[in-house]
Amino acid sequence: MQIDIRPAAPLPDDGDAAAPGDELRLAYELNERANAARFGEGIYVNTLPEFTALLRSDETERIDVLYAWLGARIVGDVTIYANLIDSTEVADVGIQLDPTLPHGERTELAEALVARGIDEAIALGRSTIVASTVGARTGPVTARTGHGAANPTHPEVAPLVARGFELEQVYRVSVADLARLSDLDARHAAGLERASGYELVRWIGETPAEHREGMRMLHERMSVDAPVAGLAWEPESWDDARLTAFEQGKQGGGRSLMTVAARKRSTGELAGFSTLILPTTGDVARQHDTLVTQPHRGHGLGMLLKLDNMLRLRELRPELTRIVTWNAEENRPMLAVNERCGFEPIAYEAQWQRKDAR
Ligand SMILES: CC(C)(COP(=O)(O)OP(=O)(O)OC[C@H]1O[C@@H](n2cnc3c(N)ncnc32)[C@H](O)[C@@H]1OP(=O)(O)O)[C@@H](O)C(=O)NCCC(=O)NCCS
Repeated sequence: MQIDIRPAAPLPDDGDAAAPGDELRLAYELNERANAARFGEGIYVNTLPEFTALLRSDETERIDVLYAWLGARIVGDVTIYANLIDSTEVADVGIQLDPTLPHGERTELAEALVARGIDEAIALGRSTIVASTVGARTGPVTARTGHGAANPTHPEVAPLVARGFELEQVYRVSVADLARLSDLDARHAAGLERASGYELVRWIGETPAEHREGMRMLHERMSVDAPVAGLAWEPESWDDARLTAFEQGKQGGGRSLMTVAARKRSTGELAGFSTLILPTTGDVARQHDTLVTQPHRGHGLGMLLKLDNMLRLRELRPELTRIVTWNAEENRPMLAVNERCGFEPIAYEAQWQRKDAR
C-alpha cells in the first residue's frame, strides 16, 4: 500500500468553507466513519464546523494533525496533542484508521501512523507519550489499575506494544437514555431535600463573573481528584484566561456548555459541578466533568448534579434524548452514580503510556 503521510493544511476560519473533496471535508468524513465504527452509529457525531473546532490549537494546547493519503483518499490520521501550561513533558498521540480498509492494510497503516506520531512528539521535545486505542472490559492484557483490558494484536494496539507502551488505564464509555428514566423528577426532588444545605446554580455558556473563582478551583481539583492511574498528567493550575480558553474551545463550531454547580448556603463556596457539552446535531449530549470536593461528598450531590442536568436538558434541548460519558473503569464512585442514573457500557478505551521516549 502506497501511503503518503503529510501535515494538514492550515485550518480555514470557517469549517463550512470546505467543499466536497477538500482535505478538511475528507478528514471530517473519515472521523465520522471511525467514530461510528468505535462507538456505534449516531453516538458521537459532529458537524463540519464542530469537527474543525476540535482541531484548533489555542494558548493552552498545541494540536498537530497529519493525514495518511492513499491516492486521493484520506485513509487515516495521527494527531499530536501537546499541553502548553502543565504536563509539558507529555504528548498525547491518537491515530484513526479508515474502518473500511481490510485488516492487513489497517495493520500496515497503524504501524506507519504510530511511528510518525512518536517521531513528531519527540521532535516537540516531549519525553512521555500517551496513546489512546480501542479497549475492552476483559482481555489478554489487563490495565495496571487492574480494571479493564486490551487486545495486543488489534491493529491499533500492536504498534504500541511493539514499542514498549504499557496499558495504564481503561475508560468505560456509557450511554443513558433519558426516556427510560421515568422517575427523574421524583429522584431530583428527593436529592434536593437530602442536600438542603446546598443550592444549585446553573448557566449556559461561559461561567458568569461571580462563579469564576470557584470554577477555577473546581477545575484544579478535577485534575487531582479524578483518577489518572500511572499516566503522567500533572495537577493543573487554572487562571482566568485558561478558563476562558477552555470554555471557548469546548463551544467551538456552535456547541454549548450546560453547567450546574452546588453552592453551600452557609458559606457561599462552590462544592461541586457537572457540565454537559451540547452538540448542534444528533440526539446525544456529551458529559464533561463532574466533581464534588472531598468535604462535601456523601450528601448525594454528585447524583443530584447529574439528575439536574438531565432535567434541564430535557427541558431546553428535548431532541438530545441521550448522554454519553467516559469514566475510568476503576472510578467506582463515579460509575456507581452513573449506573444509578441509567448509564450502560457501549465501548472501552485503552490509555497507553511510554516514558523516556527520546
Ligand atoms: C464521583 C463523585 C462526584 C461522587 O460525589 P458524591 O457527592 O460523593 O456522590 P453521591 O453522594 O451523590 O453518591 C451517590 C451514590 O454513589 C455511590 N457512591 C458514592 N461514592 C462512592 C464510593 N466512594 N464508593 C462506592 N460508591 C459510591 C453511592 O451508591 C451513593 O449512594 P448513596 O447516596 O445512597 O450512598 C466524587 O467522588 C468526586 O468528585 N470524585 C472525583 C472526581 C471524579 O472522579 N469525577 C469523575 C471523573 S469521570
